[in-house]
Order: sequence, then C-alpha cells, then structure tokens
Amino acid sequence: MAGKITLLEDDITELKVDAIVNAANNSLLGGGGVDGAIHRAAGPGLVEYCRTLNGCDTGQAKLTPGFDLPADYVIHTVGPVWHGGNEGEAALLANCYHQSLKLAAGQGLKSIAFPAISCGVYGYPVQQACDIAVNTVSQFLSQDSCIRKVIFCAFDQQVHQALIQAMENHKLH
Ligand code: AR6
Repeated sequence: MAGKITLLEDDITELKVDAIVNAANNSLLGGGGVDGAIHRAAGPGLVEYCRTLNGCDTGQAKLTPGFDLPADYVIHTVGPVWHGGNEGEAALLANCYHQSLKLAAGQGLKSIAFPAISCGVYGYPVQQACDIAVNTVSQFLSQDSCIRKVIFCAFDQQVHQALIQAMENHKLH
C-alpha cells in the first residue's frame, strides 16, 4: 500500500498521469497558484467546461477532461481556508483527498497526482496538511484495489520535506 505512494518535487502540470488534482476555489473558474498553472497549461477549453459545473463545495471534488495537459483528467477539489484549526479545517482537507480518490476510482483511473491542497494562499500549516494528506490517502489505498499509483507533487522544498516527514510519521502508527 505504501509502495503505491511516490513523492516528487515537480510542476504538476507536466505529469503524464490519468488525473492531476487541482487546488481550486468554490467557483472552479480559475485563480492563482497551482489552479492558475493548470488552467494555463490546459488551455481555454478547461474554463469553458468548468462554467457548466456550477462550482464546487469545500471538501468536495469534480472531474473534467485534461484538454491540452499531458494528464487525461483534472480532478478539481476545494481545500479549506485556514482559520486557526477550529472550523473543521482538518476534516474538510481530509475530505478533499478522499473525495478526489473516490471520484478517480469510480472512473477507473489508475494514477493520480496531488498538489499540497490548501498549503499556499489558503494558509494551512504545511506539516499538518501533509500528515492529513498521507494518512487519508494511505487509508483509502488500503481499502481500494483500483488505484495503483498516487504521486504527492511538491512545488517547493518545504512541502517536499514535510511530505517525507509525513511518510515517516505514518510508518510509526
Ligand atoms: N505544481 C505543483 N504544485 C504547485 C504548482 C505547480 N505548478 N504551483 C503551485 N503549487 P495554492 P491553495 C503549490 O495557493 O492554498 C488559487 O488562487 C504551492 O506551492 O495553489 O489550496 C485557487 O483559485 C502550494 O504548496 O492552493 C484558490 O483561490 C500548493 O500548490 C486558492 O489559490 C497549493 O497552493 C487555493 O489555495
């Protein structure tokens, strides 16, 4: 199960996997950070398609084609904004990972790459977010036989190191 998880430090828009996950906002109409990068690389077809989806609730996920991306699909999920930790942020963030994997498995997808959802503009403490990411994905994979590969794609060293630590922490459980 742990063998299905890979850590990478890379630009997620360049990965040729069945689906990359987008850290979107409730409108699904694009923004900055990884969302902006994905929309730029996918081309204008993506935002056109997203306009038909009526947005997305925090903690939920929606699937679109990948358009000009090397990935076949994009799974758009909306992470929580960090408000100090007492507003259900941890459960919402876990739900982002869980719902994205559920959607991917339901579609028969085998490989999926995640960015560090909520770790940029939304201000989630990076180590806490990475622990939730690793725990939620590991738990899902232990009960699923469809998904063969999950990549955690960090864009900077801080997130990459936090993911390495999260993998270590998880093994201690
Ligand atoms: N590949 C992989 N990771 C990336 C890339 C990339 N090309 N670019 C940035 N990251 P953020 P959030 C990392 O802010 O915190 C948008 O405006 C980045 O270094 O993209 O969930 C949306 O529209 C960070 O570690 O997402 C929302 O309004 C991580 O991706 C809002 O930002 C997430 O940072 C969502 O905020």
